[in-house]
Amino acid sequence: MYDVVIIGGGPGGYAAALYAHNFGLTVALVEKERVGGTCLIRGCIPAKAWLESADVFTTVSHAAEFGVHASPPTFNWEEGLARKNRVVDQLVNGLSGLLKKRNVDVFDGYGRLAGPGKVVVETSDGTVELEGRNTILAVGSVPRSIPDYDFDGQRILSSDHALEWDRDPGRVAVIGAGAIGCEFASLLGDLGNEVHLFEMLDQVVPGSDPQAARSLQRQLAGRGIEIRTSVSVGPPSVGQGGITVPFGDESVEVDAVLVAVGRAPRTGDLGLEATKVELDRGYVIVDSATQETAEPGVFAVGDIVAGTPQLAHAGFAEAIAAITYIATSEPSPVNYRAIPLVVYTHPELASVGLTEAQALELGYEIEKTSHTLAGVGRAIIRGKAQGLVKIIAAKDGPIIGATVVGPDAGEMIHELMYAVGWEALPSEAAAFVHAHPTLAEAVGETLMAAAGRPLH
Ligand code: NAI
Repeated sequence: MYDVVIIGGGPGGYAAALYAHNFGLTVALVEKERVGGTCLIRGCIPAKAWLESADVFTTVSHAAEFGVHASPPTFNWEEGLARKNRVVDQLVNGLSGLLKKRNVDVFDGYGRLAGPGKVVVETSDGTVELEGRNTILAVGSVPRSIPDYDFDGQRILSSDHALEWDRDPGRVAVIGAGAIGCEFASLLGDLGNEVHLFEMLDQVVPGSDPQAARSLQRQLAGRGIEIRTSVSVGPPSVGQGGITVPFGDESVEVDAVLVAVGRAPRTGDLGLEATKVELDRGYVIVDSATQETAEPGVFAVGDIVAGTPQLAHAGFAEAIAAITYIATSEPSPVNYRAIPLVVYTHPELASVGLTEAQALELGYEIEKTSHTLAGVGRAIIRGKAQGLVKIIAAKDGPIIGATVVGPDAGEMIHELMYAVGWEALPSEAAAFVHAHPTLAEAVGETLMAAAGRPLH
């Protein structure tokens, strides 16, 4: 009998397994593939590895601006893929080693609940039955498609397929301009591919600050990516020259279509019918203070949880909350208010807390302050002085949200994470001195302006 049996070895599941050592809990982790889950194997990590290759390509392409002359670069997709695989393997191996060191028993097979506290694992050598005082469901999500765009792995692709490209995919239509769609559009655009990005809603990265989204959209479009917002695509047709994607009265012909319209929870075949676990459109409903489902002793974390962000780091936090509650019986809920979101496009778009629209909807009176990167020394030195920092504060009150677009926005957002998390007043946050010359000075400038006393 284990203290905890975890189904799913992605960020939610492996974080729960690793964190359990803090309390001396015995853990079994069931995983049907290698440990690592979507994030390590076909999500965050491989996508960022490809984006890094694209970044190096761009740097070399523009080297002459810096006085460095090189022949125009070429990109070898097979080698890019091999490097991506090496990065993934290194992290998966590191994770496997760490799980071993923490005495987590990893079961290689498909796990299903056979009633509360019982998990049946189908392994290649037969069935294993595990018993746990607690069970954590952390089975993650899979790419969704839209009607007429069933994935075939050849022409109609999900991000799973696109991360395995071993040759130039040619002209690509990307459907959906959320995080996945924008990241792929960005990297393909950087590598010189013809890219058409289609979004049903009226901006890229819907839900993010519109001013920030416009800045990102302008910069992506400036690199030749064709972006169409507020459009619906019709059924594709395959012809001699490629695949035709219609929209309105027009169409484009491409060699591949990448569908990036969201991810669906993988809760279909988990044995949940043998439990009291409740679902909302396939997502597991949990008590937000404990991560426990309606079935006592059965918890859920990560992408399958109803109503929380589908982000690896949200999964980590939910895992920590579940394990802490299991070990101590003290609820220790995730603070979702200050979880950063980073879209790793070039440039990055990162946000934390509330957007202006969300704050207004919640009834806040707000003060908004933005500052562009145009005059920021370090950004000019980097040749990347486009983008902005935007801070939303409650009127005469604390900072409640922020968005950054620009180089390393995903790193810069973290000081604003503290500001939002600790409910700092703009004047309190502005009192700190930023190093010069750094990109983070853009945040410092915005904070000073938000506090009513701008410097530059
Ligand atoms: P998403 O939900 O973020 O974006 C999907 C987009 O597709 C939306 O903008 C939606 O309006 C659009 N869309 C839906 N149907 C469409 C249609 N028929 N035509 C045109 N556009 C359509 O989902 P995405 O990008 O697939 O990512 C899945 C999840 O993974 C998200 O929760 C995302 O936050 C997460 N993720 C996070 C990353 C990050 O933090 N950097 C990177 C990749 C994924």
